[in-house]
Amino acid sequence: MIKVQDIVYCAFGAPDLDRMAEFLTDFGMVENGRTGQTLYMRGAGAYPYINVIEMGPAGFRSVGMLAGSEADLHAAAKLPGASSVETIDAPGGGKRVCLQGPDNYRFDLVHGMERVAELPVRDPLTVNFAWRKQRIKDLQRPAFEPAQIARLGHCVLKFSDGDGAANWLRETLGMLPTDRLHEPGNPKQTLGTFMRCDRGSDPADHHTLFALQAHPGDVDMHHSAYEVQDPDAVHIGNQWLASKGYVAEWGVGRHLLGSQVFDYWRSPFGHIFEHYADGDLLTSDVPPGDYPAIQENLAQWGPELAPTFFQSVRLQA
Ligand SMILES: [Fe+2]
Repeated sequence: MIKVQDIVYCAFGAPDLDRMAEFLTDFGMVENGRTGQTLYMRGAGAYPYINVIEMGPAGFRSVGMLAGSEADLHAAAKLPGASSVETIDAPGGGKRVCLQGPDNYRFDLVHGMERVAELPVRDPLTVNFAWRKQRIKDLQRPAFEPAQIARLGHCVLKFSDGDGAANWLRETLGMLPTDRLHEPGNPKQTLGTFMRCDRGSDPADHHTLFALQAHPGDVDMHHSAYEVQDPDAVHIGNQWLASKGYVAEWGVGRHLLGSQVFDYWRSPFGHIFEHYADGDLLTSDVPPGDYPAIQENLAQWGPELAPTFFQSVRLQA
């Protein structure tokens, strides 16, 4: 059985590559080249890109997931609606199979991409706790700069059948359900399922994909989320993006499910991008949880949920 091991990239459309590159640079990514009408942005980690931006209407194009082996690609190529095993024409090369997921979302199963040298990121801050002082004669001076993105952590997709999508992620990509959110007072109605990679005894993020139940007619990507060094980076990133005049969506706060310190922003074209730090890691033996979708289960602290939060990408040409 295929068991995806990581999320590698999200691909989006945007009608102005320069403007999108400027936003993503302020968000904390680094440009890693363009080919024709396509822009590649990387984080500090070893993947050559974590965002692929294609010139065109704003929106979601595909999500790239890491296959455990090239044999998995050949197995995946036999699935209904799958492409053949293709060579990836992008920095780092590698091979992929494009899978047709629920609601026609495109899932790219990738393998063999060349890794790149990691980029420097500021060290984690040394924190003085009330009864544990560990920073003496060393001043706390994090720079005012974009929150340097280490890696892509997860993405959230809205499906017409959220339960069916979670089953597909389990059966086709070998993912594990971590926590389910249900309608308050109606435990049978799933509102979303957090899915993580099955890495056995190696820890995995609390969720790598979140399958959200869409309102009728609202099947679309919700957001993609990027890990930064620590909560100070999240807060400084918030100030940086505000200083550049971008649109804040929700944050800074700390989620309950996954525990991340989070902060959500809109790109100039309406895509939602999240910074996060200090998320939970779980091994494959942790059983799933089930929670009503009430505010306390979405955030432990932080501002009220913005009314625009669950709206689709607001397409802006
Ligand atoms: Fe998120």
